[in-house]
Amino acid sequence: MNIIKVKDYEALSEKACEYLIDRIRAVEKTVLGLATGSTPEGLYKRLIEKYREGNVSFKDVTTFNLDEYVGLKKEDPNSYYYFMKDKLFNHIDVEMENVYLPKGVVADLEGECSEYERLIQTAGNIDVQILGLGLNGHIGFNEPGTAFSSRTHIVELDASTREANARFFDSIDEVPTQAITMGIETIMESKEIVLLVSGEKKAEAVKQLIEGEVSEDFPATVLRNHDKVTLIADEGALGKVGKSLLLK
Ligand code: F6R
Repeated sequence: MNIIKVKDYEALSEKACEYLIDRIRAVEKTVLGLATGSTPEGLYKRLIEKYREGNVSFKDVTTFNLDEYVGLKKEDPNSYYYFMKDKLFNHIDVEMENVYLPKGVVADLEGECSEYERLIQTAGNIDVQILGLGLNGHIGFNEPGTAFSSRTHIVELDASTREANARFFDSIDEVPTQAITMGIETIMESKEIVLLVSGEKKAEAVKQLIEGEVSEDFPATVLRNHDKVTLIADEGALGKVGKSLLLK
């Protein structure tokens, strides 16, 4: 795992933005895997700025988001579809027909999972997947205990994940109990992965990620089996990682 240490959240967002623009320029018809949550918001803001300055175009970019809540319509302000439009897609020149998120309101949820897999494969797989890190090691909504061999599937959300996400809702009771997420194997098929982690509250999780045993009990450790992963993390997030490991 390549580790890029930056000072703070601003620097992390800047570095991630540079990194992504470089990949968009280098890879023709780039397929990006995107995440929601707080961590990539700064990255998305900067991508919008770079687009407005004429430094990058998303005309030929296809995107696949990691996950979506079950039961929230696209127009629900808490849906990930809404989040992505609001934070990124409405402000750049991506073609909405090239934007994909799992659909959270469909009659056949299992069918939706297979269809999402098919779409990713038809696009030639993800070139660069952006990930955030859950406090319990989740990536996408793959909670501890999820098989490394999992494909896009429906998940029951962990109490801790619902609590962590409750800040976006009026109350915890409104946080959906299920989501559709790309599976761990689906994520691992991305040609390149960029994991963004910021802040002291993630320091223990980053320590586990780097120093802990590779195990389904801490899903993000699977990333150590991928040969092209870049962790961009700030000083707070790397605060508990041994110095010798950072030099590797
Ligand atoms: C979001 C996602 C989640 C988040 C993770 C970290 O699409 O799949 O795995 O990346 O929960 O969230 P934040 O960035 O809010 O700390």
